[in-house]
Amino acid sequence: MNLVVQSLNAENTHFLGVKLGKLLQGGDVICLMGDLGAGKTALAKGIGSALAIQEPMTSPTFTFQNEYAGVAHSQPIRLIHMDLYRLRYPEEVEIIGVEDAFQEDAICLIEWPEIAADILPKDCLEIRIEGSGEEPRNISFRSNTDDWERRLKEFEEVS
Ligand SMILES: Nc1ncnc2c1ncn2[C@@H]1O[C@H](COP(=O)(O)OP(=O)(O)OP(=O)(O)O)[C@@H](O)[C@H]1O
Ligand SMILES: [Mg+2]
Repeated sequence: MNLVVQSLNAENTHFLGVKLGKLLQGGDVICLMGDLGAGKTALAKGIGSALAIQEPMTSPTFTFQNEYAGVAHSQPIRLIHMDLYRLRYPEEVEIIGVEDAFQEDAICLIEWPEIAADILPKDCLEIRIEGSGEEPRNISFRSNTDDWERRLKEFEEVS
């Protein structure tokens, strides 16, 4: 399934993150793609807000990954937010332990996931944001599983 949604401004992107965040559960891996400044972190913050993350979410550009304690469907959940932009070699993906984040009690958001392509779960949700600056964004959601298809339909239906 490939769902494309337009976002007119940063608040709109944040809100799409909130809407998606409500549908997430432990074990989910979400790849956030798009150029520098596309809005990946803006969307991630919306997801964090739906998962009741209390602390301010900051971009993990230098730390590679930040972990937050949240709640999904009344259950405690870990939100792991990664940014692999600064990695240069696939070996580094193993060194920083990207795969360790794929756990049933964690929701994992990965900005710049391309370098980790070989180890990403086949059932991850791919989100690509196109557009930059103050122009509107096209945000596409792509998945190969029935489970994501069901959840994306629900996402589409919630106004
Ligand atoms: N429709 C929009 N959606 C998202 N962000 C927007 C939109 N319009 C303008 N912006 C602005 O674009 C910027 C997006 O920044 P953000 O940090 O989310 O990008 P990013 O994709 O995470 O970049 P990076 O690859 O550097 O991590 C913000 O300054 C935001 O205010
Ligand atoms: Mg970012």
